[in-house]
Amino acid sequence: MREIVILGSTGSIGVQALEVIAANPNKFKVIALSAGGSNIPTLIAQAQKFGVGIIGVSSGGEIARSLTSGISVIDGESASSEIAAITCDIVLNGITGSIGLGPTLAALAAGNKVALANKESLVAGGALVAAFGLERITPVDSEHSALYQCFMAGSKSEVKRAILTASGGAFRDRRDLSSVTLAEALTHPTWSMGPVVTINSATLVNKGLEIIEAHYLFDLPYEKIEAVIHPQSVVHSMVEFIDGATIAQLSPPNMKGPIAYALGAPDRTAHATTAVDWSAAQSWNFSPIDSARFPAVDLARHCGSRGGGLPAVFNAANEVAVAAFMSGDLEFSAIVEIVAATTTKLDSIANSVIRDLSDVSAIEEDARVVANALVVEKK
Ligand SMILES: NC(=O)c1ccc[n+]([C@@H]2O[C@H](COP(=O)([O-])OP(=O)(O)OC[C@H]3O[C@@H](n4cnc5c(N)ncnc54)[C@H](OP(=O)(O)O)[C@@H]3O)[C@@H](O)[C@H]2O)c1
Repeated sequence: MREIVILGSTGSIGVQALEVIAANPNKFKVIALSAGGSNIPTLIAQAQKFGVGIIGVSSGGEIARSLTSGISVIDGESASSEIAAITCDIVLNGITGSIGLGPTLAALAAGNKVALANKESLVAGGALVAAFGLERITPVDSEHSALYQCFMAGSKSEVKRAILTASGGAFRDRRDLSSVTLAEALTHPTWSMGPVVTINSATLVNKGLEIIEAHYLFDLPYEKIEAVIHPQSVVHSMVEFIDGATIAQLSPPNMKGPIAYALGAPDRTAHATTAVDWSAAQSWNFSPIDSARFPAVDLARHCGSRGGGLPAVFNAANEVAVAAFMSGDLEFSAIVEIVAATTTKLDSIANSVIRDLSDVSAIEEDARVVANALVVEKK
């Protein structure tokens, strides 16, 4: 029986992780949950359903306490970090945004393993996270879960390149991105996910974040990480080896597969997701990313290769721009422009040395100030 802590339990990943756990009561047991605090009744209902004795919320602690008895409530900015440090077999981090970095570090510092959905942890604080040892992290992102599994087919020195697949997002077939609405950007063609990652998929910023994530997670140079459009999202990623063989991991798009694998690795969880139906005719397509229409992938690769604090700047600027788009203050097509302009202005941050979380926070603060000013200029 594995004891699991879930951070961000009210979100898309968190809810699906709880469904995986509910379907496998002899394999997994949840012992603590955390969330931001925007949906406290759901968090409490989850705790009651799974018999969890302790929850954390970054805001709304008083409301949580007033709605429940017999469940301890930790509240405040560091609540998820405190929950992450509870001794357990694995902490699943399903928080959205680089606010998830502190809890990832807290889990690792406490000696816990981490099932990482929060890719921003690795983008903003990759070296800090990696310093704890990559063997303590299992990826939840479907692409990285696929790579993790494909890498088992050969030794690291035999890897020629890793190829991430990308659905292409909501606008892969749309030429004119000048009048995109929020509702359109929130409609993903193959995956059902939280709002930020769905918008990041539409700009392809998500694929850029994933390239940086793969660099840290698998200790691979950027030259060995590529991305390709695959609209059906069945091939989750591939590894090409030096003999010319390419190993891929496949399943119809459903996050329960990678979530179950991350919680149970190296064991597999029976019936975690449906398999490919080979009795039905189907075809899968692959095509190169159109960098002119979607410059975010090249930009992320550039920031990742420059290193230092520049990936954290890339992510923080994107968080500002996406929030501005969601609140109607920025055009969709300007999101990546803001990210590009912020990373250009703060390029020297690539030379910075990151020693701890406060260094990352300071860099992010600089990036947010610049990005917010650029958003105001665009208005
Ligand atoms: N969804 C997917 O299919 C998918 C696939 C691959 C990777 N990912 C990655 O997984 C992460 C989560 O994505 P998601 O789609 O599940 O996001 P989501 O649906 O927006 O859920 C985010 C979760 O984070 C919580 N949260 C927000 N701020 C917090 C804070 N300050 N402290 C603690 N918890 C906080 C939210 O709590 P409240 O409800 O209280 O706000 C919610 O539970 C992202 O990094 C994303 O890129 C997601």
